Amino acid sequence: MREHWGSTAGFIVATIGAAVGLGNIWRFAYVTGENGGAAFLLVYLACVALIGLPLMIAELALGRRASADAVTAFQPGAGPLWRHAGWAGVVAAGLILSYYAVIAGWALRYVFGAATGGLWQADAAGYAAYFEGFIGHGMEPVLWQAAMLAAAALVVSGGIKDGIERLNRWLMPLLAVIVVLLAAFAVTLPGGMRGVAFILSPDWSALSRPAVYLNALGQAFFSLGVGMAVFITYAGYLDRRTSIPRAALAVAAGDTAFAIVAGLAIFPAVFAFGGDPAAGPKLAFITLPQVFAQMTGGIVIGLVFFLLLAAAALTSMMSLLEVPVSVLVHRWQLSRARAVTIVSLAVFLAGLPSALSYGLLRHWSIGGLPLLDLVDQTTSNILLPLAGLVCAVFVGWRLKPVVALTNADLGMTGVGWIWLWLLRIVVPATIVVILLRSSAWR
Ligand code: PFF
Repeated sequence: MREHWGSTAGFIVATIGAAVGLGNIWRFAYVTGENGGAAFLLVYLACVALIGLPLMIAELALGRRASADAVTAFQPGAGPLWRHAGWAGVVAAGLILSYYAVIAGWALRYVFGAATGGLWQADAAGYAAYFEGFIGHGMEPVLWQAAMLAAAALVVSGGIKDGIERLNRWLMPLLAVIVVLLAAFAVTLPGGMRGVAFILSPDWSALSRPAVYLNALGQAFFSLGVGMAVFITYAGYLDRRTSIPRAALAVAAGDTAFAIVAGLAIFPAVFAFGGDPAAGPKLAFITLPQVFAQMTGGIVIGLVFFLLLAAAALTSMMSLLEVPVSVLVHRWQLSRARAVTIVSLAVFLAGLPSALSYGLLRHWSIGGLPLLDLVDQTTSNILLPLAGLVCAVFVGWRLKPVVALTNADLGMTGVGWIWLWLLRIVVPATIVVILLRSSAWR
């Protein structure tokens, strides 16, 4: 018998768990920092509402309609062109997971560094050396990558309701409390309000830079987790009682709120201690530990922060892992345990070049990019929008409007038609723009 979520609330919490991850903390902070703060945030919100949300509704509708996996979802009555279309999302999910696990491993490594004190011994200038020393140290990054993957595999092998849903049910509320407490602490730091102003009071000049729009779109895709078949897959275990637009709204709102509150935890601290908000991807791993080290109580705060980062990454990894797993279980009738083992091993091997890309394989850069950055950029900038495009075109144009609207629980209403036309025109057009301009993303 096909597995199901235990309840609508359980499904929503698990889906928020998929959406909330490294993207909300590590990536949101550095992309916002690099793109001028508050003005970027406005463009980001527009991207979430006009592109991310319609696409999420489409993925959920498609998944629940098929009640199957991300490949089968494109097939019923769809003709040869669509028979393999779903693989784009499955491959994107596997590839993203391959390097996502590596960065999640860094977070886990920092949890231990913060707990044992190793992280805090470095002097102010030593944080970059600490980070580079770790990511370049022989096989060490591989160990942490493997640990995070093993944890995700363990939960996913427990199944939808007893594995994924159960863990998310207690972990996500805990993470929400932690991030709110961290933000409450950060905004009260002397000088912290400058960090609040940085993300909440717009600097309109940022709007004249085209890169801001592209980065906002890319961030919206990544942070919500659309385009990687995760929502198709999770909705494949959903029953008809759950309202899809409401679930999608809850997930998009929850994900956005989490990112903003995480920003309110990070930027005030960065400003209070004179860090550089535009430090890029190393913001969380170099700038922040340096900031924590100067704060009263920073050792505990730092530990809690990296725990939050690692745990948020774990719940997203579970969703990415479930995408190929459900394909193997559903289409090839493998047992869940076997499917999880096969997929996690494959993902682990695929992630080895990324894990070693700043150390043993540092001379193997392609086009000047370390391997991890290469996989990150090709998946985020190309595969992911492509898979999103496939989904938008399928639901928007290939399904009959009445079928699409009914499956999305919108019916032939005004809102329903707005959704459909966003999906038909705005979403594909914007994705094509991203694809054409993908080199300008970073
Ligand atoms: N949305 C997750 C994050 O913000 O970290 C990352 C992610 C999860 C991307 C699941 C894609 C996905 F399918």
